[in-house]
Amino acid sequence: MSEKHVYPAEPQSHSLIDKEAYEAMYNASIEAPETFWADQAKAFIDFIEPWDTVVSGDFSKADVKWFAGGKLNVCYNCVDRHLPTRADQVALIWEGDEPDTSDTITYQALHEAVCRFANVLKSRGIKKGDRVCIYMPMIPEAVYAMLACARIGAIHSVVFGGFSPDSIRDRILDSACSAVITADEGVRGGKRIPLKSNVDTALAGCPDVATVVVVKHTAADIDWHEERDIWYQEAVASASTDCPAEPMDSEDPLFILYTSGSTGKPKGVMHTTAGYLLQVAMTHRYVFDYREGEIYWCTADVGWVTGHSYIVYGPLCNGATSLVFEGVPTYPDASRFWQVIDKHRVNIFYTAPTALRALMGQGDEPVKRYQRSSLRVLGSVGEPINPEAWEWYHRVVGDGRCPIVDTWWQTETSGMMITPIAGVTDLKPGSATRPFFGVKPELVDAEGQVVEGAGKGNLVISQSWPGQIRSVYGDHQRCIDTYFSAYPGYYFTGDSAERDADGDYWIIGRVDDVINVSGHRLGTAEIESALVLHPQVAEAAVVGYPHDIKGSAIYAYVTLMAGVEDSDELNAELVRFVASEIGSFAKPEIIQFAPGLPKTRSGKIMRRILRKIAANETEQLGDTTTLADPSVVQALIDNRVNRG
Ligand code: PRX
Repeated sequence: MSEKHVYPAEPQSHSLIDKEAYEAMYNASIEAPETFWADQAKAFIDFIEPWDTVVSGDFSKADVKWFAGGKLNVCYNCVDRHLPTRADQVALIWEGDEPDTSDTITYQALHEAVCRFANVLKSRGIKKGDRVCIYMPMIPEAVYAMLACARIGAIHSVVFGGFSPDSIRDRILDSACSAVITADEGVRGGKRIPLKSNVDTALAGCPDVATVVVVKHTAADIDWHEERDIWYQEAVASASTDCPAEPMDSEDPLFILYTSGSTGKPKGVMHTTAGYLLQVAMTHRYVFDYREGEIYWCTADVGWVTGHSYIVYGPLCNGATSLVFEGVPTYPDASRFWQVIDKHRVNIFYTAPTALRALMGQGDEPVKRYQRSSLRVLGSVGEPINPEAWEWYHRVVGDGRCPIVDTWWQTETSGMMITPIAGVTDLKPGSATRPFFGVKPELVDAEGQVVEGAGKGNLVISQSWPGQIRSVYGDHQRCIDTYFSAYPGYYFTGDSAERDADGDYWIIGRVDDVINVSGHRLGTAEIESALVLHPQVAEAAVVGYPHDIKGSAIYAYVTLMAGVEDSDELNAELVRFVASEIGSFAKPEIIQFAPGLPKTRSGKIMRRILRKIAANETEQLGDTTTLADPSVVQALIDNRVNRG
């Protein structure tokens, strides 16, 4: 912790709240949540019918209802209700992969596009409660697709465009999707991604998908299945622009988003309507101190929760102008972010530490090439930001004048949970600082005792918040087991954290078998399952190790089948194999062939030891006497693969 470096909040003119107001609102949100959230819901959301109760149910069983009895539509709140006042305001700015491609979509145009798309879905028999898989590049149609689902009450399941056909198939089957929305190809950093072809491969194992809507994006040659595939552009051309928004119950599901956990297959995290929308709209407004007319850019992909909450639903609910970026930070060169910021006069910029670390490595010149004078607030998300990257972001990108909000949250929380509020919270590089309204964090020690005052522990949340996960799709027990069982009465985040003497939180990282690689969350079990599918692999154990740019990277220990020789070719083949099973972003950085793995006498792999070897901390291996064969440890150390 670098408590010495405190950047006192610099209150900005026209800020929504000040320090005193934050304290008062925070206390009200914890002490009288019903009154607090009722007021916020009225301020942020239009309901068709008012709710009966603000919050009810049993938090400890993941059985909560927010705004039960209320009726509303998320798409209406994000689009229609803005029309009387901002029909001609730009809702989406699209910046394509190539610097000379961009587009703007007004709220009026967004309304038309979404209504047409919703009517196309309806004409294919898709109705309220049906599941629709969205596998798209970062183009405006991805946003239209999500909003069209929300408009008719279909539940979307967005699958990140980097996932492999197998991963798409598993997700489609798990939630029984009846339709897929995709594009012919995606383009990122000048490279084409064969989205439609991946969908075709996936659908060979999904007989119940009756419709594939294909957006023509690159006009690549693709296979066509007449009975199932329709071109988006043709279908919307003849669809009506009139499509009433379906009144939804506050607790009707809005979307499912798969995320990795420490065990088994990825879980379909389910979020519902009113609580989710309130969480994301309110955090977007307060944390960024968002103001009318500002240009806001979150660089995430809509395939992850950050894209859902802070490219689409939060900003559009607030009537903001949200920038959708198709490309990558380093294409055509390392100044792309800053070039886009000047081109569109971006005021609020929200990105991930991994991108910042990669760009920081290119020096200051690519940043200085652009003015960045429009920037007012900077944000960080997805993984801990190391103080050096924070300082660089502040000093070089923000010219020392923009507050940085380091926002800690998770797919399961919908929106930001522990975060500074721009212009209000004193900042400390590397600290996510204070809980947002309604969030009551606690730290618990190894015995499950609550840590008081300054100290370290596992991070838990002790009362419900509107955006909390409602279920794991199709398996509510898994939701209870994963999040509400480790510490009864608390939601367990899977992270550990430290609280300093000022009450500020410092997120340390995951304490379960989840690895955060470049802000992408991966379960070690998932990567191990992929590796053992390879016919020459007998066993695999995967751990994370610290990586300068990615935060963590994947180190895989692989035991080959008897008689199989290890080789560089096999190593490379296994890396490719994982990419084809899960997606490129899940590739192991290092594979070490290991004839034996450290196991207890009952056969359990001791990952603690494997993590230490991967991190090259072999002096601190701890007790190895309980191993069935302690000699394997020395063999692993002797053959450790050293990359930098
Ligand atoms: O370990 C924490 C880390 O990312 C995890 C959640 O990942 P995911 O569900 O994919 O959501 C990412 C976008 C919110 C957390 O359990 N994490 C996220 N934000 C931060 C963070 N770690 C430290 N600081 C953050 N600001």
